[in-house]
Amino acid sequence: MSNDSSLKEVATDRGFRIGATLNAQSLRNDPSYWKTVRNEFNAITPENALKMGPLRPARNTYDFTDADAIVDFGRANDMYVRGHTLVWHNQLPNWFQAWEYTDEQLETFLRDHIHTVAGRYRATVDAWDVVNEAVADDGTLRETVWADAMGEKYLDRAFRWASEVTDATLYYNDYGADAVNEKSDSIYTLLSNLLERDVPIDGIGLQCHFLGDRPAPESIAENIRRFQELGLDVQITEMDVAFTAGDAPDDRCQEQAAYYRAIAEACLETGCDTLVQWGVNDANSWLRQFKDFPERYTDDPLLFDDNCDPKPAYHALTDTLIDG
Ligand code: GLA
Repeated sequence: MSNDSSLKEVATDRGFRIGATLNAQSLRNDPSYWKTVRNEFNAITPENALKMGPLRPARNTYDFTDADAIVDFGRANDMYVRGHTLVWHNQLPNWFQAWEYTDEQLETFLRDHIHTVAGRYRATVDAWDVVNEAVADDGTLRETVWADAMGEKYLDRAFRWASEVTDATLYYNDYGADAVNEKSDSIYTLLSNLLERDVPIDGIGLQCHFLGDRPAPESIAENIRRFQELGLDVQITEMDVAFTAGDAPDDRCQEQAAYYRAIAEACLETGCDTLVQWGVNDANSWLRQFKDFPERYTDDPLLFDDNCDPKPAYHALTDTLIDG
């Protein structure tokens, strides 16, 4: 492998998955986006298309158009496909708010949703984020519509329902739990309890949205190891690196590159074999889409710039995968 090889080539060569999250519109309309994904990544995650809101225009209907387009693109290019996400408290359908359900109706609705969605993609999605962000920032079970109706057992049921219709590997996914800290301690306990109850969970996704905060890579490695020791696979599922606005270093692209390198090294050292960044290039990062975010954080957190040209972080990652 030489320095002329693409990120995808060097990753594939050492059995590593390097991924990006995709939106169907850019895939259809933007050739440089499409080419970048095809040439540089061997793993993909639909960014929004598999969330309940976009998928469920009405209570009894589904719209798989965008999700199918992204999953089909992944399969056609021989990529690893992560499904995101079956159960979450955000991005619920608009009609949901006005629905006056009983606990039993909600449970049936969620079971049918999981059976339909995970079942549809049983041959095409390799891994699912079954439950996203069930733990609150203070480490307690987050109060959500799902927890309200079923208590903590909603996690058990969600994983069981998914395992009834797919052989994909099944993950719990969360943010702010990348290093050893109070939140990851709580998640560690939650997942240990799920395993004790024989819930079919295979792994944990560490989102790794580094917004202003860059935890010590050693602590991230230690965190990865303790979940692996539970028998869980660990993947980095939503990485990006931004700085607090007004407090960014002058050489922020270099510093960003150094942090991407450190995280890739932590992956190689621990045997974590999957790193997905949240977006493809800076122009479509979620940090540009939320109104107040550009004021809070720098908005160029990814490996490719607005024109899909590779940034220092891209070269740092490629070099690490060649030499590390
Ligand atoms: C969370 C969710 C993702 C996405 C990101 C940023 O991390 O898991 O689906 O919404 O926030 O937008």
